[in-house]
Amino acid sequence: MALLLCLVSLTAALAHGCLHCHSNFSKKFSFYRHHVNFKSWWVGDIPVSGALLTDWNDDTMKELHLAIPAKITREKLDQVATAVYQMMDQLYQGKMYFPGYFPNELRNIFREQVHLIQNAIIESRIDCQHRCGIFQYETISCNNCTDSHVTCFGYNCESSAQWKSAVQGLLNYINNWHKQDTSMRPRSSAFFWPGTHTATPAFLVSPALRCLEPPHLANLTLEDAAECLKQH
Ligand SMILES: *[C@@H]1O[C@H](CO)[C@@H](O)[C@H](O)[C@H]1NC(C)=O
Ligand SMILES: *[C@@H]1O[C@H](CO)[C@@H](O)[C@H](O)[C@H]1NC(C)=O
Ligand SMILES: *[C@@H]1O[C@H](CO)[C@@H](O)[C@H](O)[C@H]1NC(C)=O
Repeated sequence: MALLLCLVSLTAALAHGCLHCHSNFSKKFSFYRHHVNFKSWWVGDIPVSGALLTDWNDDTMKELHLAIPAKITREKLDQVATAVYQMMDQLYQGKMYFPGYFPNELRNIFREQVHLIQNAIIESRIDCQHRCGIFQYETISCNNCTDSHVTCFGYNCESSAQWKSAVQGLLNYINNWHKQDTSMRPRSSAFFWPGTHTATPAFLVSPALRCLEPPHLANLTLEDAAECLKQH
């Protein structure tokens, strides 16, 4: 059993997941991993719990299932981490558990954590899209914990003048995007608007962009918006 716990500790902390990017993660999870054996008196629970804690980050990335990149703001990561550590600390305050109880509770906390992360990522994205025009916010990439940002196209404009300027901003953004190292980007997003940096395309004067109209805006991503403009 000592050997098992030892192996569990050795393989820990290699994987990346959103929570991994929080500054207290190593300290907290190293404590959780090392104290599993004092909590469960059923021997089978120890390796199962150890594996859950070791695979926590990998499993998080597998369970997120997001159509948008896993990038979370620092503030929301801190909120999720606080909630998860609170649930874990509470679980670890119990003295002894019936067979199966401890790993089961770990699984519940894990699932709750995945929901919290999903909601945090989606909420920021929706907030961003509820603005008007191109907007960026700072995030951390859950894959490798590096600073990154998310750019979105907000469609919540209040006047046609604002809307025009928002769409113009989108065109400028897409053109700049195109001019950056073309080889680095996926093919699907590589397209060019002839002459947009010298003249305003005619459609902007009387916009009839079906794909940018309300029923389609619920899920609009920058990529979709670009695709939509490309077709006009
Ligand atoms: C992280 O650890 C520091 C120092 O121990 C503590 O002050 C802070 O509240 C912790 N944050 C979270 C989210 O647990
Ligand atoms: C980190 O991961 C993101 C994808 O989420 C990627 O775009 C970025 O280049 C990576 N950064 C490093 C330093 O590996
Ligand atoms: C939004 O996306 C979901 C899932 O991808 C899809 O089922 C739904 O039809 C989309 N809604 C609109 C208005 O495009």
